[in-house]
Amino acid sequence: MRIVLAYSGGLDTSVAVHWLKETYKADVIAYCANLGQVEDLSSAAYRATSAGAVDVIVENLQDDFLQRFAMPALAAGAAYEGKYLLAAPLSRPLIAERLVAVARASDADTVAHGATGKGNDQVRFYTSLRALDPKLSVLAPVIEWELTTRGSEMTYAQKHGIDVGVSKTTPYSIDTNIWGTSVECGELDKIGTPVPSAAWQITTAPENAPERATRVSVQFEEGIPIALDDEPMSLKDLVNTLTGLASVHGIGRTEILESRIVGFKSRGIYESPAATVLYAARADLESLVFDRETLHHKRSLAERYAELVYYGYWFSDLRSALDAYNRHLSHRVTGTVVVELYKGTVRCLTRESERFSRYDPALADYEESDTFHHAAGAGFAYCWSLPLLSQGGQ
Ligand code: ARG
Repeated sequence: MRIVLAYSGGLDTSVAVHWLKETYKADVIAYCANLGQVEDLSSAAYRATSAGAVDVIVENLQDDFLQRFAMPALAAGAAYEGKYLLAAPLSRPLIAERLVAVARASDADTVAHGATGKGNDQVRFYTSLRALDPKLSVLAPVIEWELTTRGSEMTYAQKHGIDVGVSKTTPYSIDTNIWGTSVECGELDKIGTPVPSAAWQITTAPENAPERATRVSVQFEEGIPIALDDEPMSLKDLVNTLTGLASVHGIGRTEILESRIVGFKSRGIYESPAATVLYAARADLESLVFDRETLHHKRSLAERYAELVYYGYWFSDLRSALDAYNRHLSHRVTGTVVVELYKGTVRCLTRESERFSRYDPALADYEESDTFHHAAGAGFAYCWSLPLLSQGGQ
């Protein structure tokens, strides 16, 4: 038996390598996706081998992740329950895709992941893997084994000579990638207590952010950000640059009491500095280039898109249909927005689109140049009121 395990380099999945090998008498291939997480992946390969993996594969998926997963979510304006920009859930279908590809290439009939039974991620991995290849078996060692505490996992690791590195003990469960960080568990589960300041991982507290604002212009081409302050950049560089700028100003923090797929509510905190700036800038540009009906209709689909991502339904017809809809509209999202970053907020100062602006100063202003037909406006108001008329008024 051969198992391809989604390997993060942390304690859970290091122990999982050994446990799967022993329990299923299997060859375990550790698959490690580099999605821009902060952990050092260079020693991960060594750790997986020390745990007994027959092979370790580390792949840099950052560009793919941004282009094929983060950009469609940006285009959709997707935020789960209006707040969560979905960095973790967007990464799961990509990891699932790669697990399937590696399994096929190495003749493995089983894949495994390190998610727990209470979380959304095990649902997302499972649904994505099933959608891609229903013939593959899916194992979730952390759900199956008896090692219920961090201490028991450490003891297991010591007993079997597994190198767990300098995995720092944190009371939180943290997941990071280039699009954002999520933090759960520990003190956060006491919802009557404010979020401890130490729980935030990458952003400065807004109250400690610089007194001086930073202005940056974001240029979009067909919905994709392509330059900052007129300097063209790869998507990855642009996101990393914005992450640096915005996190200094305390931008991108969200706390949410979220409705999990598995039914209960949990509290999570999320930091997505670059995504927050890009969502704000893109929404602002959209208000310039879309007519009212399109703008409102598109926005009404944002929450639905977020649900599909959150629920693990990435590989659904509805998600790809919504992507096609957003792609169709995105050609107009070409222009530049200047944003100001200041103490936790991002404000759009100006916006322009040479080709697609729908703003006509001659209609909007009250100057000499006004070309609006005022009498037509009055006639319009008369007709508009007709559906509200009743015999005697209200
Ligand atoms: N509640 C988040 C979600 O379902 C958590 C993602 C994983 N994050 C973590 N800290 N383990 O998307």
